[in-house]
Amino acid sequence: MRLYTLLASAKINLYLEIVGDRSDGYHELVMVMQSVDLADRVTVRSIGADEIRLRCDHPEVPTDGSNLAVRAAQLLVDTFPSVMAKHGGVEITIEKRIPVGAGLAGGSTNAASVLVGLDMLWKLGLTQRELQDLGARLGSDVPFCIVGGTAIATGRGEVIHSLNGLDNLYAVLAKYRSLSVSTPWAYTTYRQQFGHTYIADATEQVARRQLVHSSEMIAAIAHQDGASIGCHLSNDLEKVVLPAHAKVTQLREVMAQTGKLGTLMSGSGPTVFTLAASAAEADAILNRVRQTLPDPDLDLWPVRFTQTGIRLEG
Ligand code: C5P
Repeated sequence: MRLYTLLASAKINLYLEIVGDRSDGYHELVMVMQSVDLADRVTVRSIGADEIRLRCDHPEVPTDGSNLAVRAAQLLVDTFPSVMAKHGGVEITIEKRIPVGAGLAGGSTNAASVLVGLDMLWKLGLTQRELQDLGARLGSDVPFCIVGGTAIATGRGEVIHSLNGLDNLYAVLAKYRSLSVSTPWAYTTYRQQFGHTYIADATEQVARRQLVHSSEMIAAIAHQDGASIGCHLSNDLEKVVLPAHAKVTQLREVMAQTGKLGTLMSGSGPTVFTLAASAAEADAILNRVRQTLPDPDLDLWPVRFTQTGIRLEG
C-alpha cells in the first residue's frame, strides 16, 4: 500500500482538574477525555524523495517543521533511521475540519494519525503502547488521541486509563472563528492566580489521582447516565479563560440555558460544548443557539461521542 487515509477525532474534556506543579514544568492533571466524531482527514502517501512534506487546506496551519504532524514523522525517522532508505519519504495531507486553537486537540490528533499511518506505511509493527510512548514525546494529548473513546488521563495528560465507551451521547460544539486561546497562556495564568491551591506533596498528588476512579463522574460514565455526567462536568481552566473572554462567557450562558444536560468549556478553550441525548436534540439546540446569537463569526457543530481516536477511512 502506498497511501493510507485516516480519520483523526477531536476530543472534549468532560473533566479537567489541575492538581499541582510537576518537576518537568508541566502541571499534574486529572482529566476525563472523550472523542467526538468531528474529525480531520489525514492522508500519508509514499513519495520518492527522502523528505517529509505537509499540505493543509487551512490557511492558519503551518506546513513547516513546527507542525506537530511533521514533528511526528520526524520522530519516527529519528527513531528508525533506515525507514526512508527503505520506503522513501512521505507526503502528509491534512483536510482540516477541527477548528484550530480551539481546545479540541486538533494538532495533537493530527500528530497521532501520522504516527498510526506511518506505522502502517513503513511497516514498523509498533504496538499501541509504543505509539502512545512516542506520542507523549510530542504533546500531552497525543497518547489519548491515539486511543480515543472515553478515558481518564492523568500525569501530564499522557497516562491513559480507558473506560467503557460512551457512544449514546451527543453534543453541540460552539466556537468563535476569530478567537483562539493559547494553552501555555491558560496554564501560566492559572498558576499565577491559583498556584496557592496546588497540592505540593508528590504522594498526595498520587492519592488525588487515584480518587478520580471513585468519583461521581466515573460512576455516571459507568452507568451511561447523561444527566449525571452533565451535573459533574468541570474544568479548572474556565476560571482563567472565561474572565478574560466576555464573549465566551456569554456563549457559555446561552448554551447552558439552551441545553438541558450540561455545558462546559473544553480544554483551554475557547470551544464551549453542551451535551444532548440525541442527534435531534443536538440539532434543535444548535438552531436555538444560532437564533439567540446570530453572529456570523460563531461556528457550531453537532457531534456524537465516539469510541475511536484514529481510524482508517471507509
Ligand atoms: O503538552 P503540550 O505541548 O500539548 O502542552 C502545551 C502547553 O500546555 C505546555 O507548554 C504547558 O504550558 C501547558 N501544559 C501544562 N501541563 C500539562 C499540559 C500542558 O502546563 N499537563
